[in-house]
Amino acid sequence: MNRKKIYLFMGPPGAGKGTISSMCVERFGWTTLSTGNLCRKHIVEGTDIGKKIDFIIKSGKLVSDELISAMIKEELEQAFNNFETVILDGFPRKSSQVDLFWNLISGLGLDAEVALVSFEVPNEVVLDRLLNRLTCSNKNCQAVYSVGCDSLLPKELDKCDKCKSPLARRGDDDRSAIENRLREYGESSKALVAAHSAKGTKVVRVDASCGVENVFDLFKELMAQK
Ligand code: AP5
Repeated sequence: MNRKKIYLFMGPPGAGKGTISSMCVERFGWTTLSTGNLCRKHIVEGTDIGKKIDFIIKSGKLVSDELISAMIKEELEQAFNNFETVILDGFPRKSSQVDLFWNLISGLGLDAEVALVSFEVPNEVVLDRLLNRLTCSNKNCQAVYSVGCDSLLPKELDKCDKCKSPLARRGDDDRSAIENRLREYGESSKALVAAHSAKGTKVVRVDASCGVENVFDLFKELMAQK
């Protein structure tokens, strides 16, 4: 089996992890697996897991490691069977999930080069971004747009450019849930980076406060230097 490349995306809510992931998929032919998207898919499908996590997600709290692990295992295997480079957007999200990640990788018998990419943006910027976000309601698409930025607007205000499904605000994009998510991130991010560093994973920091094309270029440059 070829050596796989894995980019682990972390950053506060609204940092642009999903947006940069989509650009990498479109421009580089990589694939991305977002645990947030997976959670929302379970909720829309009304699975047992979805019923357990609906309220947790809406309130901006974290889902248990056990449920994340149950959701991600099969998806991870499929992604690695079909792609050389995989982005994991939002997983691992706390230090206890770092061991979980490595257990899954060794369970799949993968030889992988792993880098942690931390997208860094001040809280006031992400608050503005999240209040302006529109997301595709199709559980298999979940494309993201912004009414706060001309280059990120959908072509038609209420429809997804990609699949034409209706666009909506995410249930956890209200102020109180955003505050919980930011608090959660603030409390867990240092320990998460430390847990990765302890495993010898390279940590790359990207200033994600500028325009989206600039963030993408910065990411590309930093990956080339690795
Ligand atoms: P998840 O979906 O991962 O949410 P998040 O981490 O809060 O991140 P977001 O998706 O909100 O933001 P993003 O960084 O992807 O930004 P985006 O590109 O959309 O997780 C949701 C929930 O699921 C969690 O709260 C938790 O409950 C649960 N969960 C998920 N993973 C878990 C795990 N491993 N363990 C436990 N629980 C887990 O961009 C945001 C907006 O800004 C968009 O409108 C976009 O168009 C715009 N934008 C993007 N970049 C720019 C830019 N450079 N300039 C201007 N606007 C921009």
